[in-house]
Amino acid sequence: MNMNIDFLKLAAERYSVRSFTTQPLAQETIDLILKAGHLAPTGCNLQPQRLLVINNEEAVAKLRKCTKCHFNAPTAILICYNKAECWVRKYDGKTCGEIDASIVTTHMMLEATALGVGTTWVMHFDPAAIKTEFHIPDKIEPVALLVMGYPASDAKPFAGHSEFRPLEELVMYNTF
Ligand SMILES: Cc1cc2nc3c(=O)[nH]c(=O)nc-3n(C[C@H](O)[C@H](O)[C@H](O)COP(=O)(O)O)c2cc1C
Repeated sequence: MNMNIDFLKLAAERYSVRSFTTQPLAQETIDLILKAGHLAPTGCNLQPQRLLVINNEEAVAKLRKCTKCHFNAPTAILICYNKAECWVRKYDGKTCGEIDASIVTTHMMLEATALGVGTTWVMHFDPAAIKTEFHIPDKIEPVALLVMGYPASDAKPFAGHSEFRPLEELVMYNTF
């Protein structure tokens, strides 16, 4: 399978955008980003992800009460999973909802980059507040907030974006 996609270039171009224009995302753009989340692999293909698009004035105002990391983005997607629908590993009871939701988030983050849309993955939100504000049922667990929009002219990577620990420190071959 050679699809001629320069994935490493896309991955290297992505950075956390924390300054946005007020330009809203077109519905077609949101749809493409959601499609990337739809295509993501999940444990046993159970697809427990639930995606809350936050893009009207009232919802954005609610979100701003739940996190300081909204960066005045015009749109955000809250990636959740349904706790009742996750695959569970029988050996230790570990469930893969957080993992599934993280893969979905990563897919959407990279599709956004490919479309010229900036994102920041945000974990720093108040989960209780977000559940209350958006009437999220108990069985639905929020994992990640992807704030997004078009990068403002002053948007730039934070210091540290290009600092990587040496690969040799992170990778082992054949035994830990
Ligand atoms: C799981 C996760 C949680 C994160 N939570 C936050 C957050 O709450 N607020 C924030 O500003 N950035 C957050 N980030 C962004 C990271 O700080 C950022 O990805 C990292 O510093 C590398 O920078 P880069 O994305 O520009 O390459 C998060 C990233 C990940 C993967």
